[in-house]
Amino acid sequence: MALVLEGLKRLEYRGYDSAGVAVVHDGRVDIFKAAGKIAMLEREMGSTPATSQTAIDAGVLRTALTKRGHVFRSETDTEVLVHLVEELHTQGRPLVDAVAGALRQVEGTYGIAVVSSREPETIVAARRGSPLLVAIGSGENFVASDASAVLAHTRSVVYLDEGEIAEVRPADYRIMDLAAVEKEKTITQVDWDLATVERGGFAHFMLKEIMEQPESIRNTLRGRLLEEEGTVRLGGLNITDEDLLKVQRIVITACGTSWYSGLIGEYMMEELARIPTEVEYASEFRYRNPIVDERTLVVGISQSGETADTLAALREAKRRGARTLGLVNVVGSTIAREVDGGIYLHAGPEIGVASTKAFTSQIAALAVLTLKMGRLRALSILQGREVVRALGRLPDLVAQVLAKAPQVEQLAERLQRATNVLYLGRGYNFPVALEGALKLKEISYIHAEGYPAAEMKHGPIALIDDLMPVVFIAPKDAVHQKVVSNVEEVKARGGRVIAIVTEGDAALAKLADHRIEIPETLDLLTPALSVLPLQLLAYYIAVRRGCNVDQPRNLAKSVTVE
Ligand code: AGP
Repeated sequence: MALVLEGLKRLEYRGYDSAGVAVVHDGRVDIFKAAGKIAMLEREMGSTPATSQTAIDAGVLRTALTKRGHVFRSETDTEVLVHLVEELHTQGRPLVDAVAGALRQVEGTYGIAVVSSREPETIVAARRGSPLLVAIGSGENFVASDASAVLAHTRSVVYLDEGEIAEVRPADYRIMDLAAVEKEKTITQVDWDLATVERGGFAHFMLKEIMEQPESIRNTLRGRLLEEEGTVRLGGLNITDEDLLKVQRIVITACGTSWYSGLIGEYMMEELARIPTEVEYASEFRYRNPIVDERTLVVGISQSGETADTLAALREAKRRGARTLGLVNVVGSTIAREVDGGIYLHAGPEIGVASTKAFTSQIAALAVLTLKMGRLRALSILQGREVVRALGRLPDLVAQVLAKAPQVEQLAERLQRATNVLYLGRGYNFPVALEGALKLKEISYIHAEGYPAAEMKHGPIALIDDLMPVVFIAPKDAVHQKVVSNVEEVKARGGRVIAIVTEGDAALAKLADHRIEIPETLDLLTPALSVLPLQLLAYYIAVRRGCNVDQPRNLAKSVTVE
């Protein structure tokens, strides 16, 4: 039992509002459920005997089952499924056939594991929409929705694809579709170990992941930079240069923080590769009859590789003939397996719900993809080399900024009681303003908004007074002078200015009330530096406000339902 609870705790970061365990022993199934954290479930289970070999959605059907004598204990659709399985199972069908039979009668998304006192050594698991894997141990096998739950026992996993069902026993397992056709599956070795999903002495996973960014960016770039040729090598792209040259338009689709990195990718692609590029919220793109065809490259960005809207947007794009690419961190995730090709971030597991290192690795990966597309077009070898060299220097520059964490912590001390914060940036750093605001909102629950700095005059400037901290992201880039005048406008109205500036920026040193300096780099890479103080600021403010930094309320690390 401890093993199952330990696995659930490792999954807690994914965001659940309740949890439960089913225990098969002495010919019966005991069910334990609790709303809230796993600790509540642990308390609920109290002195449940530790030994057991196995532990784990509608109206029309409910009415029919009720007529056939089934008594329901809840309004949940899931219970309808359980009664359907029970009915088929008690007719003598093996558990796996009963589950398959029940699933053939239902619609919707699910990730389920089923146990029965009649087959105490069997777990039957099935997925449609939600991620699920079988983990192969020695003399034991596991079912989990995420590899981090089983890393203490094995790193050999088999990912279930859409509509697949698995029959798992201690000594063997088999995977089929719902028509009982067996599937040949590959066993994947997870390249993370237990240590990487531990906090490693940090107070929170978020702080650990912020401080890991020099290494995670290095891993994203490893083996991909070709300085001499001024270009990159991308093994997993799975699209020929000829086909990449046929691409006439790029659509980047994603959600949340990944959408913000997509916006930076749009600016890069249009500036360096000169390819028309748009960024689409996946939840909008999937339902709005988008114009994409075989000359469109649709790039889906997702840390988890399981976000339902991004997955559906990519499937829709594929259905309309577009080539699809995934920029994904989780190896073997559904998006990674369904797109035509992709770029893995190799940033390592990101456990904190607030995305940090995945964002900077997404920026590095987008710069690499831009180099690839640009060098196939008009980007010269000299321009290419300049970007490759700047990417090579990036991890060290990131480390320099992170060394200023104590300075940011002092700033957090001053801002922890703010009720609203405005983030402003231009060009490549407008998306950073959005990301800075999101980080503060999602972990400290302070209301914050990000805006293109020039947009301020069209409304938000009305909010400016001495109570409204305004964070400017203002490195010395092509639009720096414009941002300086925006800072003057805020100062003129009594606003309190915090500025992220390039080292030695005298103009903003005079204007800003507080500033955090970052080293110089190419405009397109400044977001990977300017976002770091904003990640730290949100973190330190949230800690001071006693918030649950790693598992903020109402949020899940991977949003697998729409
Ligand atoms: C970011 O901190 C949030 N956790 C959230 O906005 C996240 O970026 C979004 O849900 C997308 O997740 P994905 O990258 O795993 O698809």
